[in-house]
This record gives sequence, C-alpha cells and structure tokens, in this order.
Amino acid sequence: MDGITLSGIQKRYGSVTAVTDINLDLPQGKFISFLGPSGCGKTTLLRLIAGLEVPTQGSISLEGKDITRVATHQRNVGMVFQSLALFPHLSAGENIAYGLRVRGVDRQARRRKAEELLEMVQLPGLADRDIKQLSGGQRQRVAIARALALEPKLFLLDEPLSSLDANLREELQVELRMLQERLAITTIIVTHDQREAMTMSDLVVVMSTARVQQTGPPLEIYRHPSNSFVADFIGSSNLLDAIIESDQSVRIGQNRLEVAAIPTGAKPGEEVVISIRPEDVSVLKNSEHADNVLEGTVSFIRDVGASVETFVDYAGTSIVTISAPKERPDVQQGDWVQLGLPAKACVVVWR
Ligand SMILES: Nc1ncnc2c1ncn2[C@@H]1O[C@H](COP(=O)(O)OP(=O)(O)O)[C@@H](O)[C@H]1O
Ligand SMILES: [Mg+2]
Repeated sequence: MDGITLSGIQKRYGSVTAVTDINLDLPQGKFISFLGPSGCGKTTLLRLIAGLEVPTQGSISLEGKDITRVATHQRNVGMVFQSLALFPHLSAGENIAYGLRVRGVDRQARRRKAEELLEMVQLPGLADRDIKQLSGGQRQRVAIARALALEPKLFLLDEPLSSLDANLREELQVELRMLQERLAITTIIVTHDQREAMTMSDLVVVMSTARVQQTGPPLEIYRHPSNSFVADFIGSSNLLDAIIESDQSVRIGQNRLEVAAIPTGAKPGEEVVISIRPEDVSVLKNSEHADNVLEGTVSFIRDVGASVETFVDYAGTSIVTISAPKERPDVQQGDWVQLGLPAKACVVVWR
C-alpha cells in the first residue's frame, strides 16, 4: 500500500471518544475528504494523520512504514487550518518562504520559490504585499502556498474555505482541485459541506458520531448510500420508512413498492428505509405509467428560477420532487397528485 493506512484507530480524550474503529486505506496522490457534521471527529482524525495527536489505540502507516509515533516535523506534511496563522508582520512572500528560511535555503532561492508558488495560487507579483492588505481569499491562497513550499508528501487542510463567502468558496474549491491534480500530492480536506466534498474529491469518507459511515467516490456514495444517515447527508433525499416484503419489493403503509435490490442479508419483515432522490421522483400526468405510484396533496411549491421543487404530503410524510423549469409540473398547492417512483431509483438502506 503506498498511501496512508489507518488500522483500528481510536482516540479518546478522557471520557470522550473522538474517533473509534477507524480502518481506512487512503490512496496515494488522490484528493480525499473527511465529511461529516460538527463534532463527528474529522479534525481529530486529520490531527492524528498529521502527527499532532497520538492515537489511544491502533496504528497509522505511510507508504508501508509505521508512523504512529513519528513526530509531525518528520512526516513531511503541509497543513492549512481554518483559523490560519499567517505571520502578520511578514509579507506574503516571506510567509510562504518561512519554512525554507528555517531550513537554511538562501534568500534568492527562497524568493524564486515564493514567486513560483504565488503564481501557482493565482497571486502573481504579490510577494512584497503586506498580509494585512490582502483579502480573505488572498490570505487563504497564501496559506495554501506556504503549506506547499516544502513540497510535502501529504497536504492536509481543515475547513480551509469555511470563512469565505459562497462564491469565493466555490471558486477556490475548483482551483484547489486543479492544483492538486497538477501536483498529484495526497491531499486530505476536512469539511462539513457535502457539495464541497463532492466537487473536489476522488474519495469521500463520510463520518458521524466518531465513526466512518461510508467511504467511496462521490457519485458512488450519492447513488448507493449504505445507510439513512449517508443518504440524508449527501445531497438531499426522500427517506421513507418501509418493511421488506421480498427481494424486489417493500411495503410502505398500504403501498407496495418495487425496488432495485435490497441490502445483502436483509430478510422479509425487516425495517428499512427507502431513499429516493428528488430528481428521480416525478409528478405524473394523467394516466402516465410508473413502476410505483404514491398519492398525496401538494403542500408547497418552491420556484427558484433554475429549478422547481414540488412538496407533496404523502400520508404525513413530505416527498419532494425537483424539476427543471421546462418540466415544471402543471399543479398547484392543494392539488391531489400522483407521484411516480422508478423502481431502480428506490434505494433500500438500513435505518
Ligand atoms: N483536545 C480535546 N480535548 C477534549 N475533547 C476533544 C478534544 N478535541 C476534540 N474533542 C472532542 O472530540 C470530538 C470530536 O471533535 P473534532 O475532531 O474536533 O470534530 P469535528 O472536527 O468533526 O468537528 C468532539 O466531541 C470534541 O469535543
Ligand atoms: Mg473540526
């Protein structure tokens, strides 16, 4: 294994278990995100990989070598944190070259490297600029350049974009991804923003309550969530309680639903959840056919221009459909409608 391997990792702080039962193979040269709600253990896991914490149990290896107890400065990691600690009295260029200066690299070579890195993060010519004169986004770019100055083997970022406004954040997500592709450095980013994780990553590690819930490429996780937490956290999903009836069907109240498959090992009578994405549900026109049909009342229509969401109250549960403006269903609040749910889009997950 040439990437990072975490085996049986647990980290406790007194009586608090920050992460537990973590077994991960993180491939070399890829962009990986640790995604999950606040407090689920993302930062702890990143700090363990960085060597800023020692696990209570388990081991970490990098390129096959055990690094569980190797000091941070010997791991060759570049780090960027949410509350970035740039030196306010140094210029952008001096900040970036700081690590090189500590290593005794001469002034000219430092300057050259800083300029090259500034160009790479789209801030050409700003080497002499005061940190205080830079915008939030520019400072974050300087922090990224500084972390890359020593050509680390591992690039670790903890919510690096969360203090930026939405447009700038999306712009930097794309830049960061392109930069990582070019450098092919193993990169791990911590985020609670599923869109951010989906935009940038080769591999998403979904976490909740100190554990890994699922690991996989973004679209695989989106299409095949392994449980209702993941289905709900990645994108939005309609979640309906159901009972398994057969290999290909479940029961929801009075309705029988055809589904693509049931989880391996699931048996008739077991309680599960059906996850169906809003884009897979449609409001049926008169006499239109569908694998599965559920009926209810339109409770709300949200039209934001680029898309239209129609909320339907089905036996006390809200089911939302999303459509492009061109396909806006011809219905109004209060209408009794039929919803079509294709069997292959009805994903059965554990509760
Ligand atoms: N140094 C620490 N001392 C005590 N508890 C901590 C410490 N660091 C983290 N925790 C606890 O561990 C859990 C996970 O925290 P953290 O890894 O920061 O989560 P996240 O980054 O996902 O928000 C939380 O309950 C947090 O309060
Ligand atoms: Mg955190």
